[in-house]
Amino acid sequence: MGKAKIGFDLQDKIGAIDDRVYGTFAEHLGRMIYNGIYEPKHPLADKQGFRTDVLEAVKALNIPIIRYPGGNFVSGYNWEDGVGPKKKRPKRLELAWSAVETNEVGIHEFADWCEKVGTKIMMAVNLGTRGMDDARRLMEYCNFPGGTELSDWRIKNGRKEPFGIKLWCLGNEMDGPWQMGHKTAKEYGRVACETSKLLKLLDPESETVACGSSNRDMCTYKQWEREVLQECYEVVDYLSLHQYFAPSNVDGDHRSYLTLAENMDAFIREVVEICDEVGKAKGSDKKINLSFDEWNVWYHSSEQDKQIPRWQVAPPQLEDIYNEEDAVLFATMLNTLISHCDRVKVACLAQLVNVIAPIMTKPGGGMFLQTIYYPYFYASNYGRGEALRPDITCTKYDCAKFKGAKAMHVSGVLNRDGELFVMAANRSGEAEEVTLTVKGGDVASVIECKRLSGDAKAGNSFENPNNIAPVAAECKITEEGVTFTAPAESVHFIRLALKK
Ligand code: AHR
Repeated sequence: MGKAKIGFDLQDKIGAIDDRVYGTFAEHLGRMIYNGIYEPKHPLADKQGFRTDVLEAVKALNIPIIRYPGGNFVSGYNWEDGVGPKKKRPKRLELAWSAVETNEVGIHEFADWCEKVGTKIMMAVNLGTRGMDDARRLMEYCNFPGGTELSDWRIKNGRKEPFGIKLWCLGNEMDGPWQMGHKTAKEYGRVACETSKLLKLLDPESETVACGSSNRDMCTYKQWEREVLQECYEVVDYLSLHQYFAPSNVDGDHRSYLTLAENMDAFIREVVEICDEVGKAKGSDKKINLSFDEWNVWYHSSEQDKQIPRWQVAPPQLEDIYNEEDAVLFATMLNTLISHCDRVKVACLAQLVNVIAPIMTKPGGGMFLQTIYYPYFYASNYGRGEALRPDITCTKYDCAKFKGAKAMHVSGVLNRDGELFVMAANRSGEAEEVTLTVKGGDVASVIECKRLSGDAKAGNSFENPNNIAPVAAECKITEEGVTFTAPAESVHFIRLALKK
């Protein structure tokens, strides 16, 4: 067994974590909306057709913000199709995912659901088949109090108070050849600049996110960031990053797969460097922060999705069933976002229900929580406050794609309740005996210590919903520090009370 030391110094802070780092994403895709959050015929549906069991599971995640309505979907979406009397709403072919969109859920219904859940919308606009005029109209419809055609239309459609949406994504993955309305960096940079200008003329308090690369392996990566920022640096607030990990990223090597957060870390560092380079070249005082607005593990469903017939309503697409090892990688991705809280101000777990999701539902039936639900649950509920820099000494390992990786991957947050919340993943193949110390404060007690571990390939299901779920684990306060044993490929969630 290896020996690990994790040291925190209460004075050594990375920075304040923006709550929006614990955002998620809800796209009109597969069974995310229809037969996910919305299923009017379900016995547990409320008057508006929202499943109350799903609502409760989502509420428990305490989500600050949800990106909506896409994703690739948004690049072909006419938001007007989803407002007004439901019976009059058109059914449309949805080209991004080869499905049929019924438009039963639109902005009004989604905003109502968000209110029930206690979250806010991060709105994405269609810069694919549409453009800046559409974005302007959508913002006026959503946010203007009344007295204009569009705001009065909202009121007529049942919503007197504006939706008050403050965070706006300027399109989605516009660098991707698969995207409807795909653009070159120069073309997109100009559109992003002019769209952001219009949105800010309408609401100067709104913030905008320009599209960065769809992932770090795009052949246009870096050049895209530079050229886009060249055009829109002064008028946007954030640049986006997207990244999904799969064993295929590392030729199927198991240990390398569990180490992929290193690539996420490098991705963030590189994009920060580019933002600052462009800012410097422009002689600007402004800093562009990052919005990591799609991240997750995604691969289990890729083959089965090829068999799904086209043009169905709510087909079962992207229904990954996650296992224990996915949750370990997932926790290290979350740790990485926390460790970059000085520049990553928004992040969205993609997605929320059924579609590469922490929550799975059966039409007319039950639901279960996936393995990845738990790291997200703990971080979102207990990881709000200031991130501390962990000082880690532990076993190192080499694998096919990474050399000298640390077994322990850890984040520590001095949260708003004055607790120290620690998420500690052991991504190696050997157990580590861990001693955790806190400089500048004494640990008074262990409020909670849970561990997620077990068969790396096992997950949860409707039949066996708690197969892989956190269980109470031993964590002792000793003279040396707080000690616990981290089995191979496990995650600990530890909440420590500090002496006043
Ligand atoms: O989250 C699924 C898809 O992944 C999104 O629609 C797209 O933006 C990304 O490629």
